[in-house]
Amino acid sequence: MYMKVPLFIMGVLATLLIAWAGLTLVPGIQISEIEPPAGLKPYTDQQLRGRAIYIREGCIYCHSQQTRPVGFGADQKRNWGRPSVPGDYLYDNPQLLGTMRTGPDLFNIGARQPSEDWHLIHLYNPRATSPGSIMPPYPWLFREEIEYSDEVLAARGERVVPVPEEYLPPGKVIIATPEARDLAAYLIGLNHTYPLEGEE
Ligand code: HEC
Repeated sequence: MYMKVPLFIMGVLATLLIAWAGLTLVPGIQISEIEPPAGLKPYTDQQLRGRAIYIREGCIYCHSQQTRPVGFGADQKRNWGRPSVPGDYLYDNPQLLGTMRTGPDLFNIGARQPSEDWHLIHLYNPRATSPGSIMPPYPWLFREEIEYSDEVLAARGERVVPVPEEYLPPGKVIIATPEARDLAAYLIGLNHTYPLEGEE
């Protein structure tokens, strides 16, 4: 009986050790050996601010950032970009892989949609660019302003969003806040379509 207690404790410790080695130690070593792909650019300060807003606003609840290979869903047929590799995520902390795809994968949205105007209108009211969209609007990233002349707004450094007439509050123009522009810069920068070494 007394001999069995140390044996039991050793069994428990061995189980924990094997689990720790398999789930923490070995993956840690594997990840530390990954080099950034030649085409991967570090984020700019503006993109990093936009990324923080992406996290704050919970975009991850509906959007993934992981493009899958043929045989693992229709990502390739949908033209969402080549399958992602671990190196693509080297500058991401935390990674925003996501688990839900209520909306499209955004890992390469910058390649599909490089227009700042489009992103700003879509964030202000997704239905203005994508009829019937169920994506929520983010009006708190914008300001309403009475209609000054374009010269006055330009002189004040305001970024007027070209929202289509029928989505504008009467007599108002929509101004993008710095937060909206940072978020758009982050989205436009999401582009991992560069070729990988050894592949063309
Ligand atoms: C409730 C789910 C939901 C949330 C939350 C959400 N989206 Fe979306 N998103 C969608 C859906 C559905 C679409 C497809 C229809 C459309 O284009 O509006 C979409 C489309 C998009 C697209 C265009 C994708 C393409 O391939 O054309 C972008 C960019 C985008 N969302 C960004 C965001 C950002 C940034 C946030 C957070 C501020 C966000 N979404 C939050 C559901 C969501």
